[in-house]
Amino acid sequence: MEAQIPAPIGLLAELTHRCPLGCPYCSNPLALDGREGELATAEWKRVLNEAAALGVLQVHLSGGEPLARRDLVEIVSHCAGLGLYTNLITSGIGMNARLARALADAGLDHVQLSIQDADAASADKIAGYNGAFAKKREVAALITAEGFPLTVNAVIHHANAARAGAMVRLALALGARRVEIAHVQYYGWAVPNRAQLMPTRAEAEAAVTEVEELKRELAGQIVIDHVIPDYHARYPKACMGGWGRRTLNITPLGKALPCHAADTIPHLAFWNVRDKSLAEIWQQSPAFAAYRGTAWMNETCRTCERREIDHGGCRCQALALAGDAAATDPVCYKSPLHGRLVEIMALEAGRAEAPYHYRRVPARAPV
Ligand code: SF4
Ligand code: FES
Repeated sequence: MEAQIPAPIGLLAELTHRCPLGCPYCSNPLALDGREGELATAEWKRVLNEAAALGVLQVHLSGGEPLARRDLVEIVSHCAGLGLYTNLITSGIGMNARLARALADAGLDHVQLSIQDADAASADKIAGYNGAFAKKREVAALITAEGFPLTVNAVIHHANAARAGAMVRLALALGARRVEIAHVQYYGWAVPNRAQLMPTRAEAEAAVTEVEELKRELAGQIVIDHVIPDYHARYPKACMGGWGRRTLNITPLGKALPCHAADTIPHLAFWNVRDKSLAEIWQQSPAFAAYRGTAWMNETCRTCERREIDHGGCRCQALALAGDAAATDPVCYKSPLHGRLVEIMALEAGRAEAPYHYRRVPARAPV
């Protein structure tokens, strides 16, 4: 039976949770892994060998901030040797010309650079890091000068929703070929920051309209991937393309997760790449099997014509909002808790006066 489970396409390698920025919507867990115990270079290489053998095609090098790992170039080079497509997901802090050149020489294929806002002061405030905005401009220039295809990522919330369009234009000015505009998902650090981050319905709708108009205006100049806000949608998104279907995440300490927030689901035990092979984890671990397919679904989802489209939405969001990871995602209008969600939105939206709970880590990035 296990042999019929299709191979994963992508692997997200959370090389470290260390990061100089403190973004209040970070999807990392509240209990961040420290430097102590991070997988060593040789362990990552073994995991990557197993990933390639399993059928993985793309490796996303992420974190925290992956530039904080001194062996990043060696890891990229190893991926390239295995024929794996590599995508670096970075805040840009810690990048310099020498490192950009070394990454190009090692065979890095693509870079995704995050931005926090199109306004410098606001961007630095959201990142919790003075000078972040200016540094990202420099880094974008380094990345494009090396010939990397650049994607810019922007997360929309109450503080920057009015500049959603300006962020698309900034991405274009930075030389990006693609921009991903996504509204905050409420797990990880976004949960304690929900009241500060939640846009009003009017803010969210204005941002959606502006970005959709830019899709038409800038067609042919930049590709705009626009993920509309979950809380304002009728149906949930197909989180991770479905649990245990397409991708897996490896945490800095080696835990294998079906998604970045899976560790918040307390009754699941996640196997570690230090103890098991990636193939065993993908094919046999109870945690990956838990929400695969449709058998686990409740009646509402199991009988719904969208069950193979959105796979019941997001398990981590269902846990955070409904207290049950197997519940219909409350974003769905068919969920009995959807009304409660609308209440939360109305109560919390636009209350930005409280300071952010910044994501903080116990180490510095090397430069
Ligand atoms: Fe998706 Fe379940 Fe809602 Fe149907 S009922 S749209 S499968 S979340
Ligand atoms: Fe875990 Fe959506 S983030 S399933």
